[in-house]
Amino acid sequence: MGSGWAPAADALGEPVAEVPFADLPGFAPPAVAGHGGKVRVVRTDGGRHLLVFLGRTHLYEGVGVEKVVHGIRTAAEAGVRTVVLTNAAGGLRPETQHVGDPVLISDHINMTGANPLTGTRFLDLTEVYSKRLRALVHEVDPTIAEGVYVAFRGPTYETPAEIRMLRTLGGDLIGMSTVLEAIAAREAGMEVLGISLVTNPAAGLSDEPLNHEEVLEVGRATAARMGGLLAKVVDRL
Ligand code: HPA
Repeated sequence: MGSGWAPAADALGEPVAEVPFADLPGFAPPAVAGHGGKVRVVRTDGGRHLLVFLGRTHLYEGVGVEKVVHGIRTAAEAGVRTVVLTNAAGGLRPETQHVGDPVLISDHINMTGANPLTGTRFLDLTEVYSKRLRALVHEVDPTIAEGVYVAFRGPTYETPAEIRMLRTLGGDLIGMSTVLEAIAAREAGMEVLGISLVTNPAAGLSDEPLNHEEVLEVGRATAARMGGLLAKVVDRL
């Protein structure tokens, strides 16, 4: 669950157990003291068990790419076969996107300069974000749009010139997460679904400056809709 998505987690089902990342080996210490993430085991109404990661490690924290993908690799070792990655993103197409809308990630452009794989691991990325899972989301919500997610390392937001560049390159969404986790999940053979919540028009596309509080606020305001969407999707996986 990315920024702004934590409130949606409550809609997924009955919490069975909760463990702080700090009590699990290999996870990065919390970026903000007292605000460590945790992993929650949830039983859905349909009787499925989910591992819900509340919080993630970002590349901009400077603790290395292995920490960024540690949750994904842990889930893979635990037997998880399907990963749903969520994030908050700036919208690169305000002509058609609205703040508060979910957008299905159809593909990504990794501009972080990092990769969780090293060496001669020439992994195919032709279909990182599963067509099968996207079709399933369209059954649940036919109105949901698809888009290409671009990741920058951050932690700065982008300049308006960078945003103009990304629009030219074919990006639809901009954020600071998800792509490295998606690559690690594909390496582990998991099926991946990615959903962005558009929390703001990207830098320079509106008159407003960007701030993190606005990102979290959009998440709170849309929690019921996003939680409902996720709950319906996971029971059809
Ligand atoms: N840029 C990068 N990351 C973000 C944005 C943005 O505009 N909004 C939410 N996360």
